[in-house]
Amino acid sequence: MEIVVSGTRPTGILHLGNYYGAVRNYVRMQEDANVKGYFFIADYHSFTTHINPDELKTLVKQTIATYLACGLDPAKVVIYVQSDLPQIPELYLLLNMLAYKGELEKVATFKEKIKQHQENINAGLLTYPVLMAADIIIHRAHKVPVGKDQEQHLEMTRNFAGRFNSRYGVDFFPEPVAYNFGDDLIKVPGLDGSTKMSKSGNETNAIFLNEDPESIRKKVMKAKTDAGPTEPNAEQPQEIKNLFDLMRIVSQPDVVNHFEKAYNNCTIRYGDMKKQLAEDMNSYIAPIREKINDLMHNDAYLSKVASEGGMMARDSAEKTIREVRRIMGINYF
Ligand code: TRP
Repeated sequence: MEIVVSGTRPTGILHLGNYYGAVRNYVRMQEDANVKGYFFIADYHSFTTHINPDELKTLVKQTIATYLACGLDPAKVVIYVQSDLPQIPELYLLLNMLAYKGELEKVATFKEKIKQHQENINAGLLTYPVLMAADIIIHRAHKVPVGKDQEQHLEMTRNFAGRFNSRYGVDFFPEPVAYNFGDDLIKVPGLDGSTKMSKSGNETNAIFLNEDPESIRKKVMKAKTDAGPTEPNAEQPQEIKNLFDLMRIVSQPDVVNHFEKAYNNCTIRYGDMKKQLAEDMNSYIAPIREKINDLMHNDAYLSKVASEGGMMARDSAEKTIREVRRIMGINYF
């Protein structure tokens, strides 16, 4: 059995890029009978920036609703909230004793964060990779479906796991690797001409999974284009390539072909293409949007999923932490 763990910080409703880069892969993994999947909401991680308590509640619920609406099935995988597992902070504390200040200071995401918020460089930020390692190895995971941006964190996780093993002369923690579906890793570009859809970018850059048809239409129609190709088979500028990439995700192949032909023989009308893209994007998102909206009105169900998932995840975590305590000698009588 292969143990797979991944988490998402509770940033609310995810956008198409998050879906394609992460959650869709979770859903594909859950269908693999050899995989035992643990997918959680990384709420502790969001306190590094002192998140507002009332907002947090909505964000956590929205993130669970998004998981479910995208097809994660609580009957097949364990869905839970990080803070429901006291074993995680316990392992985090113990791993902190094996993590060196120097190596933590060298982490790229830490260096970025200290530039972004000079005024709040807290110890939690520095030890973020230790907490993330605890999240992962608490279930003794083998694989972690995450994007490229998490590769360095994962390398730290392997270091801590390996260091624990050699420090105590055991072969207890596997060294987990990042996992994606290889060639299938499709980049989702933004609508503002940027190569990556992101929440922090321009207002009109991202399409959220609960976005209504009118708002999708407005954003897509605003997407940057140029004056159009002036010679046959011209190379596509970035913003046009982006539209085609997005179309490949949400539209039928013959629709994409039609507009590619039109581009190549210089008869393309971007207005028509965007209208089609908006329509197809809406059809693609509509079932997810409806499920998210239903789930956000069904607190009882969300709470049931989280509490049952929490129970199963605690079972797994407790087995690990009991062994860790034994290995480290934390058993005196
Ligand atoms: N650091 C991840 C991110 O920013 C979120 C995360 C926290 C995570 N703990 C994890 C991802 C454990 C995978 C496994 O996206």
